[in-house]
Amino acid sequence: MDKIVALAKRRGFIFQDSEIYGGLANTWTYGPLGTALLRNIRNQWWQFFVGQRPDIYGIETPIIMNPAVWRASGHADNFADAMVECKKCHTRTRADHLIEGALKDIKVEGLPTTELDQLITQNHLTCPTCQEFDWTPARQFNLLFTTHIGIVPESESLAYLRGETAQGMFVNFKAIMDSMSPKLPFGIAQIGKAFRNEITKGNFIFRTLEFEQMEIEYFIRPDEWEAQYESWKKDMWTWVTGLGIPENDLRWRRHTDDELSFYSTRTEDVEYNYPFGGFKELYGLAYRTDYDLRNHSEKSGTQLDYFDQQQNTRLIPHVIEPTFGVNRTALMILCAAYQEDDQRVWLSIKPTLAPYQAAVFPLLKNKPELVSKAKEVYAMIGSDMAVAWDERGNIGKRYYAQDEIGTPWCITIDFDTLENDTITVRDRDTTNQERVAISELKSYLQEKLN
Ligand code: GAP
Repeated sequence: MDKIVALAKRRGFIFQDSEIYGGLANTWTYGPLGTALLRNIRNQWWQFFVGQRPDIYGIETPIIMNPAVWRASGHADNFADAMVECKKCHTRTRADHLIEGALKDIKVEGLPTTELDQLITQNHLTCPTCQEFDWTPARQFNLLFTTHIGIVPESESLAYLRGETAQGMFVNFKAIMDSMSPKLPFGIAQIGKAFRNEITKGNFIFRTLEFEQMEIEYFIRPDEWEAQYESWKKDMWTWVTGLGIPENDLRWRRHTDDELSFYSTRTEDVEYNYPFGGFKELYGLAYRTDYDLRNHSEKSGTQLDYFDQQQNTRLIPHVIEPTFGVNRTALMILCAAYQEDDQRVWLSIKPTLAPYQAAVFPLLKNKPELVSKAKEVYAMIGSDMAVAWDERGNIGKRYYAQDEIGTPWCITIDFDTLENDTITVRDRDTTNQERVAISELKSYLQEKLN
């Protein structure tokens, strides 16, 4: 993990944020390459789940919504984790993380605070910072970030930063019904930031205060929920394995009853085998029943239902929710891609996800005819894919640099190019080089990308 974090910083993927002020724990900035990786993840997700599906409608809703949304959804009261504080050094930690970290292979998320206290006492779990055993009793800590709007008295101006993008889909259900007239089953999707006042942080970008979700609320008839659930499990698996992640580093895990979120009656997580502590949550699939639409109907006074022409009745649709973390996807991709041998380090990222699909090098920087030919090649393929340009140092160093950022193909323009209009294409994973005619290069790369 240390090597991945160091590479991410050194090569412009991910930096500690506000570093000139000493940083802020668990906030990160995505550099140019990290930004490209995130954008590729989002674009491909959108194409896979929204662009090519006529039954899914994409929207963008605000981060700050009417605070009544979060009271009706239950988040203002129930979106909480149990926390304990060390009385000696004041380290605060999530009680479930303390227990699961020490006892391995046990899941205690969602247990009542009294039971968490018992487990901590029975197993004499000491503070990870000062090693003392002197904890406060566990207490619930709400995860929603609060803020204030305008200059009205505090209680009237209270607002929340959204803790999940999902509520944007529920409160705009009627607007989608009225404007798009969808038929069940159908989904509403969005990609956007969510915020949580996490107590336990750490593990690089795995758990942060601010992160990005890609979520779908899929509205169904209640009696079809099990079939829809299974169908979504398949689609999620197709998506994640399509990212080039080995299947044996992925698994499904069903939540225990204690662990279920307050809105869910069945949740299964896709877990990835991260290099810190093994399998951890990557994505989730929840059956939210009619919990959200029913609550918003009751609390807003606006009926959020559906007229079923088949049955000639009105019904409140039930919801299957596939949810995906953008940042955990990026972290998984970096972890799965990292390769090294005694010669070099390379990121074996799926080519379409890599920050650059190709790099173009003139063999020598001080030979104008090579540089100008290389610029032609750059312009020719640059309209189809992201292409890096490098003319510094020797070719070996340039290959090394592109390997480290996962560029699948390096294209060198040399003196033979000037003679016969061919270039070399060097493959990141095999390091093999091939001579290709410039006239064939576009289709050569396109074929490999496809
Ligand atoms: N709408 C359902 C929902 O929000 P969740 O399991 O709490 O469910 C969904 O979050 C996904 O968001 C997770 O599977 C994970 O990928 C990501 N996620 C949640 N909390 C996160 C955090 N603090 N930092 C980074 N990603 C997070």
